[in-house]
Amino acid sequence: MTHNTDSLEHLKAQGLLRWRTPWMAREGVKVQLDQPDHPGHPVSALCFCSNDYLGLASDPRLQAAMIEGMKRYGLGSGASPLISGYCTAQAHFEHAMAAHLHRERALFFNSGYMANLGVLPALANRHSWILSDKLCHASLLDGIALSRARHLRYHHQDLHHLESLLKKLPPQPLHHTPPVPIWIVTESCFSMQGDLTPLPEIAALAAQYGAKLLVDDAHGFGILNPPSPAYPITCLVTPLGKSLGLMGAMVSGSNLLIERILQTSRPYRYSTALPPALAIAGLKALEILAHEPWRQTTVLAHARYLQTQLQQRGLFTAKSPPPQIPMPICILPIPSPHHAQSLQHQLLERGVWVAVIRPPTVPLHQSCIRISLSALHTHAELDLLLAALQAVL
Ligand SMILES: Cc1ncc(COP(=O)(O)O)c(C=O)c1O
Repeated sequence: MTHNTDSLEHLKAQGLLRWRTPWMAREGVKVQLDQPDHPGHPVSALCFCSNDYLGLASDPRLQAAMIEGMKRYGLGSGASPLISGYCTAQAHFEHAMAAHLHRERALFFNSGYMANLGVLPALANRHSWILSDKLCHASLLDGIALSRARHLRYHHQDLHHLESLLKKLPPQPLHHTPPVPIWIVTESCFSMQGDLTPLPEIAALAAQYGAKLLVDDAHGFGILNPPSPAYPITCLVTPLGKSLGLMGAMVSGSNLLIERILQTSRPYRYSTALPPALAIAGLKALEILAHEPWRQTTVLAHARYLQTQLQQRGLFTAKSPPPQIPMPICILPIPSPHHAQSLQHQLLERGVWVAVIRPPTVPLHQSCIRISLSALHTHAELDLLLAALQAVL
């Protein structure tokens, strides 16, 4: 048996093997799941495991915008943005996003993962210090590792711990060229916890200790208003594969910051730019966001309803209290990965598709079921989810 097979057997024994569940068709939150073992017998399910919080991913207006964009600009961009892959479509989208986010300038990356990989090494080096929340997304951790900065992690959302680390840092050399700032790195809403970060308080700490702040807004964007420009967030990363229903990510901040990233970021420089049509769809998605606030209010109301119902039915088993402002991400801790996996199957048999999250995505013994809501879910569908959860938990 090879080493690789050994590790696969090990993952299997621990209930940590991953698999993909192919869907064949989708209409809003209703999906048809293919069954590779029973071809031609798709299973219908309600999707509670997508990050398409506002229900834009299958919006016909975005499809039409994309088709228009493809007719005008063709399919692939043809090159890296610094060669010939950048066209007016991306430029317009960057301007529109910068205005929407109240930042001076924005830069369109191919994905949130690439943005985090690209931005951190462009902003920090081995002389810098980076203090990140312990539960930051893997892409932030990988970006930090690539930057080779000195890295400390503070307990999740624990501002006292963050401050105690800030106090212990050695004084920064005053006249180092380039300057070596301290960075605080966090997410606005944590993807696997669903809790909101107290950005004003963190921004105040950053200002007090002369640190710069990088916030990944993957799961806050589109649901909450963009972080106020009054908080000095030096760098805002906004992945677009969630609420905007597309893909790619905008990195925004001051003119100077964005110029520095554009000049030095390797994932930006050495990868083919996204198709221009995607930027045309992005412009349409921004327009829809501005004109259809019901999407935000509905998904937030759904989140409140789900949280209240789970509490009333005694289904919240978390040791910590549920988030005070419910976001459309709901976590049910199921410490055993095998159990979490089995619950997922049982829920699917009841027509409800949820995500099972296991290490290393979450720390050891913190496997969970992750339920994500969409503005397109109906109340009846939420009740169906609750009934299914009640039956299996
Ligand atoms: C907090 C956070 N940042 C970044 C990413 C990566 O974004 P993308 O899917 O666009 O690569 C994700 C997605 O899982 C995320 O949750």
